[in-house]
Amino acid sequence: MTIRTDPHVLHKKTTRFSPISVDHTMLRLYWIVTLLYTAKVAHSQSGFSDAVPSSAFTSQLRTSLASSTAISVTAVSSGFSTVTPSKSITSSGFATATPSNTIASITATATITAAPTPTVTSSSSPSGIPIGIPRDYSPAGLAKLWDLVGPVEVPPITTTVIPQTPIALPSHPPALYPSFLAVAPKDILPDLKYPEGFLFGVASAAYQVEGAVMEEGKGPSVWDWASRQPGAVTDNTTADVVDLHYFLYKEDVARIAALGVNSHSFSVSWARIFPFGAADSPVNQQGLDHYADVIETHLKSNITPVVTLFHWDTPLALAAYYGGFTSPQIVDDFVHYAKTVFTAYNGSVHTWYTFNEPQVYCAQVGSFPFNLSFAPGINEQNAQFQCSYNLLKAHAGAVKAFREMGITGEIAFKSADYIGMPWRANNTEDMEAVERNAAFNIGVFADPVYTTGDWPQILKDTLPPDVLPRLTEQESKEILGTADFFAIDAYRTYWNAAPPEGIDACVNNTSDPLWPGCFLELMNDFNTGWSSGPASDPLTPWLQATPQFLRPSFKRLHERWPTSKIYLSEFGFTQPFEGVRNPQVLFQLTEDPERTNYYMTYLGELLLSIHEDGIPVQGAFCWAIMDNAEWNSGLSARFGIQYVNYSSPTLERSYKRSAFALADFFEAHL
Ligand code: GAL
Repeated sequence: MTIRTDPHVLHKKTTRFSPISVDHTMLRLYWIVTLLYTAKVAHSQSGFSDAVPSSAFTSQLRTSLASSTAISVTAVSSGFSTVTPSKSITSSGFATATPSNTIASITATATITAAPTPTVTSSSSPSGIPIGIPRDYSPAGLAKLWDLVGPVEVPPITTTVIPQTPIALPSHPPALYPSFLAVAPKDILPDLKYPEGFLFGVASAAYQVEGAVMEEGKGPSVWDWASRQPGAVTDNTTADVVDLHYFLYKEDVARIAALGVNSHSFSVSWARIFPFGAADSPVNQQGLDHYADVIETHLKSNITPVVTLFHWDTPLALAAYYGGFTSPQIVDDFVHYAKTVFTAYNGSVHTWYTFNEPQVYCAQVGSFPFNLSFAPGINEQNAQFQCSYNLLKAHAGAVKAFREMGITGEIAFKSADYIGMPWRANNTEDMEAVERNAAFNIGVFADPVYTTGDWPQILKDTLPPDVLPRLTEQESKEILGTADFFAIDAYRTYWNAAPPEGIDACVNNTSDPLWPGCFLELMNDFNTGWSSGPASDPLTPWLQATPQFLRPSFKRLHERWPTSKIYLSEFGFTQPFEGVRNPQVLFQLTEDPERTNYYMTYLGELLLSIHEDGIPVQGAFCWAIMDNAEWNSGLSARFGIQYVNYSSPTLERSYKRSAFALADFFEAHL
């Protein structure tokens, strides 16, 4: 089995699969041990004549890494160090900083440390979803699909819980800092307000919070399957139960209403509405009724529901019938599902998203364990782009239906990430790297939908048609203009640099580990060597808090894809090491100063972005409503503004400090 990493989506959680399953405690222990114990110095080199280690050095390291059991590399240079906790390392992990690019020589030393013996969950080698299974839409057929997943944990609660409302908020936390150091949330830019109708939202996604995966007629999704594959989830957790939001949604809505939150962006699980996914398969009325009540519950609490049709949880049936999004057959099935949901909730939901972060999802399709299950003719090189092509058509088809059906409201998809800055300010190759990042990330879907009706030119210049299917004139026409606003999940902004081997050399070499993106994402300032901002939890190494770059990034975004409305559709932070705190000590679990600082600084910058830069931002959605299943980091990477006690059968939620800070901030600024 080969594990593929997609260099142009580096630092994204979805591509950080490791081939082995590492026990969580051991992983934590490993982090501590790494600092003390450097068993094997694999390579070291000094005397670079530029700020980036030579390609020979980085490729030597990559080779060594590929053949070792190491899961981390530390690169140190000129007093600056980067720790990248993944085998999927590229030169960016070794990118070094010097006080100025005129320095003729720097020293870089990389230390590869042996990982602890992994716990392998299965002795058999992983195999993919069997493609081409016969369709059987009976209960027995559904049972066979669940057999592909394996045993599922039964939730401790199996009916909707009616909470006591309204929820009484516990006491406010004391001030985080003395006022001479930082103002209280309500006093941040006190004269600036958000515009009329601004949505103060929290965000979630079906797979990550619902649990109850086999309840009330739901079919399995690819993530129900993937979370069980050896090594796919670092802490070996599944989302079988997770927050049990499926049965606890009334309490969850009441809890956010108590904070003054006025919107919740959540997703509908396709496999709850169509357990077999397909257009000619039966609809599950229980699933439709469930979301009708979820939506109604929000409306009764004056919380605006914002609905995403697809947040990565493809029905497993469609993967097993034809390879999911790697097959064009997905288009009609998705459009049919979308029409069913539009019809059911028309008038109750105003803001819709077709897809969550399609570029991240399609990169995921080419990574373990999804890379074991491709449609015929699809391979690791073209999977991501065939997925992009099919998904774009599915998006356009759904929006066309939305408009033809006269559904009231607005619709778009959610983009992810940022428009970066050149790492070396006046370096033309680094400027080109910025363009490549823009093209290979946001631009893949934003260019066709918002500006040109076609893929970014850089993609067409790099990828042959058998990798990236070309759009016909007719397709372009159907795709252009299929969004009413722009939504961006903007967690972080970084610099981009050319790879050490140069962009041209990389573009012309399909075996280059950075091909086809051929750019680096850098988290440290070239000029000073300092980090772009505070680090998050080691389980989310792609994330540093970078509020100071939000405004410039939004400006660049708005210049490239202008619209009359933007939502900051997700942003959030993992408090470092929160997942290893003592579960018995609640008052420590709810103390999250770094997440609080992240939100306060981002929201302040957002106010400036609106008032000083004229960016039409109309909503901000905090990821996440509560701790949840963070894809391949499982339950250990915690993004919630509420703590969830996973050891308790009632899965109590507790507000963290950040939840109060957000409530205070919005009370003063809305
Ligand atoms: C987003 C994604 C969410 C969540 C979040 C934190 O990209 O849409 O599902 O995982 O990142 O990593």
